[in-house]
Amino acid sequence: MGERIFIGVAWPYANGSLHMGHIAGAYLPPDIFARYHRLKGNEVLMVSGSDQHGTPITVRAEQEGRPPREIAAKYHEEFLDSWRRLGISFDLFTSTDTQDHHQLAQHFFLTLKDKGYIYKDTMALLYCPSCNRFLPDRYVEGTCPYCRFEGVRGAQCDNCGKPLNSVDLIDPYCRICSALPEVKESEHFFLRLSAFNDQLLAWVKEQSHWRHNVLNFTTHLLTEGLKDRAITRDIEWGIPVPVPGFDNKRIYVWFEAVIGYLSASMEWSKNRGDEEKWRDFWQGDVKSYYFIGKDNIPFHTIIWPAMLLGYGGLNLPYDVPANEFLTLEGRPLSTSRNWAVWLPDYLERYDPDPLRYFLSANMPEGGDTDFSWREFVRRNNDELVATYGNLVHRVLTFTYRSFDGSIPSPAELDEKSKALLKRAEDTFDAVDRLLYQCHFREAMRSVMSLAQEANRYLDEKAPWKRIKEDREGCATSLYVALSAISCLKTLLYPFLPFSSQKLHRLLGFEGRVEDTSWAIAFLPPGQKLAPPEPLFVKLDEKIAEEESAKLGGG
Ligand code: MF3
Ligand code: ZN
Repeated sequence: MGERIFIGVAWPYANGSLHMGHIAGAYLPPDIFARYHRLKGNEVLMVSGSDQHGTPITVRAEQEGRPPREIAAKYHEEFLDSWRRLGISFDLFTSTDTQDHHQLAQHFFLTLKDKGYIYKDTMALLYCPSCNRFLPDRYVEGTCPYCRFEGVRGAQCDNCGKPLNSVDLIDPYCRICSALPEVKESEHFFLRLSAFNDQLLAWVKEQSHWRHNVLNFTTHLLTEGLKDRAITRDIEWGIPVPVPGFDNKRIYVWFEAVIGYLSASMEWSKNRGDEEKWRDFWQGDVKSYYFIGKDNIPFHTIIWPAMLLGYGGLNLPYDVPANEFLTLEGRPLSTSRNWAVWLPDYLERYDPDPLRYFLSANMPEGGDTDFSWREFVRRNNDELVATYGNLVHRVLTFTYRSFDGSIPSPAELDEKSKALLKRAEDTFDAVDRLLYQCHFREAMRSVMSLAQEANRYLDEKAPWKRIKEDREGCATSLYVALSAISCLKTLLYPFLPFSSQKLHRLLGFEGRVEDTSWAIAFLPPGQKLAPPEPLFVKLDEKIAEEESAKLGGG
């Protein structure tokens, strides 16, 4: 029996398109991870959905003069389309606006309230006298009291990452009319985070396998001591608070969004006609991973675990491999300044695998990394096409032409041939370990060095030169090269699913790569190859200039 792996992926706000930063940060890594585990025969559940509530959605709805639900529905559809085209293989991508999610969030809320982990209190909040309303989260901006960064919003500082209360902002202003807000009392529910401080600290101390940034950030917040946090808001859009007298308030978007991991698992379970199946991924022997960008760390290593501890009977995260940020042409991404490469635009013009390749080879795992169009074109041409694509293409075309369109039979293998196959076998072990530990970048590097090794082998054997005088030796080296290529197909499948599937077909196989196994496989001599086609296309250097000129525009 294989392992069980639960993969929760950050729920994107349905208030705008996704960009490269989102993909590198939170969406590509879990997909690589899920595909790898499925290929290894492990049982995977990967869920997420669009985050449809809260001020991110209402601010956008007001800007566009459309109802929040319409905005959320529009971007939800766009996300689904992007996942399909980029090959992000969710088992379920749902939304926080389903009836079941609303019910579960309210049930979770009431359960924690009954257990004394949620209580009612009044709090001082910012109120805009000219708009006549309380200013939740994104409706107020000011200077961060901790790091003095300007223009930060109500709930969390974008710069230092600390959770904030809007009344603590220095020089706050209403984001709608710029007026100076007043402080006014309002009644809200609070999550008793302070009750979990010691338990969380003890738990976090055991997580030595977490990434350093995640562990340090979390430990720091816990040693400073957690403060209870309001989990309701003065807003009309969202999940109603299931307590009389709170008609004008809603559950805080973050409190309910994290519950989405559970409600999505239940929905998936229900969809496959096995209502209790979700339990396999939430109780007992299963490892739960949460893939997020670094701005989401406290919600996944503190708030969600506290909620799970309070609720009881459900597994805590095993790992939260948060990524750092991707910069664009050396500058931070900014949606307001349109300094971003939007995923739908990219997918209109280019293939998915070159992007997946670039972001894997350049993943912001241990620190921020940069996307530039020049580097994108260079890596596509010099690495993906030159090292891997050309290797495959020259071997396939030559074999197809010279050996009657089928896989040749090898004679006895010489030392060089054995060494290449041994190297392929070792690469399976190395990449296995790396992917298991979520070291995606390193894993990609290891696979690509096998491709380089196969190129060296071919250059040395030069079968195209030897075909006349030594047909048997030529057949053997092509057979060995094809075997190495078939290994690359499997090793690269988690990263480059589209081209691996295509290569699988070119090698004469039917079915899906995902149903094959994670191991060196010897090709059946005599198997018919499909007529060769290139796996990738070389990109014109001009693209780099054209694309970077568009950044920051309109
Ligand atoms: N919508 C949040 C963001 O884009 C992420 C929510 S993750 C979950 O930053 F925890 F709510 F699921
Ligand atoms: Zn105002």
